Amino acid sequence: MLDSLRSSRIFGLPKSLIWGMRKWREHHQDWSCRIGKMGKDCRLFPGLQIAHPERLPLGDSVHLVQGIMINAAGGVTIGSYAAISYDTVIWSGNHRYYDAVTLPIDNTDICRPVVIGECVWIGVRAIITPGVTIGEGAVVGMGAVVASDVPPLAVVVGNPARVVKMRDADHYWRLKEAGAFWCGPDRKGKPGKKAGSD
Ligand SMILES: CC(C)(COP(=O)(O)OP(=O)(O)OC[C@H]1O[C@@H](n2cnc3c(N)ncnc32)[C@H](O)[C@@H]1OP(=O)(O)O)[C@@H](O)C(=O)NCCC(=O)NCCS
Repeated sequence: MLDSLRSSRIFGLPKSLIWGMRKWREHHQDWSCRIGKMGKDCRLFPGLQIAHPERLPLGDSVHLVQGIMINAAGGVTIGSYAAISYDTVIWSGNHRYYDAVTLPIDNTDICRPVVIGECVWIGVRAIITPGVTIGEGAVVGMGAVVASDVPPLAVVVGNPARVVKMRDADHYWRLKEAGAFWCGPDRKGKPGKKAGSD
């Protein structure tokens, strides 16, 4: 029993963990070859769908998780330390329907770049529509449909997304100056204390 347990380990680590880490590295390397520009320490998890990755420049330490779907045909820029959550959709182009030469659309692509600023947090299942700029430090609530620009440090929710509050600017700039980033290279974002749980 003990022998079979030992044989399923390499250097004391479970083989499944090592296999998972290898797959993760392969996946990461695969995207890093195809993405237009990737900053340092980006974390790209398996299960991303990216069309036109060559038009997707990423800053440093960008965090992209499972289920995210990005169409970068029109250009999508994601700033450093941005964290984008599960199943978010980001689209940067449209088919032509108005004045189209065929129905319901034609083959003319209308490109509208999307810009996501530094330290933006986008919650689960948000939708970012073509042409939108999300300002630095903004927070997009889960399920929001962002169809117009979001000011820096704003918190937006709903469909269409509306500003419900602002981040505390002094606090934001203090953390930024101190280099305290959740998805930075020192991994401040690893599981920690839960607010409200004590
Ligand atoms: C946007 C968010 C950060 C706001 O959190 P908060 O600052 O605690 O905000 P509050 O709970 O005080 O809500 C403020 C208002 O927005 C509404 N609201 C909050 N989140 C909302 C959402 N996702 N969709 C619609 N309305 C929302 C609240 O009902 C409240 O409305 P009211 O003022 O009319 O009562 C949070 O609700 C959220 O969506 N987080 C994303 C979580 C997530 O996706 N995590 C993934 C792991 S990375």
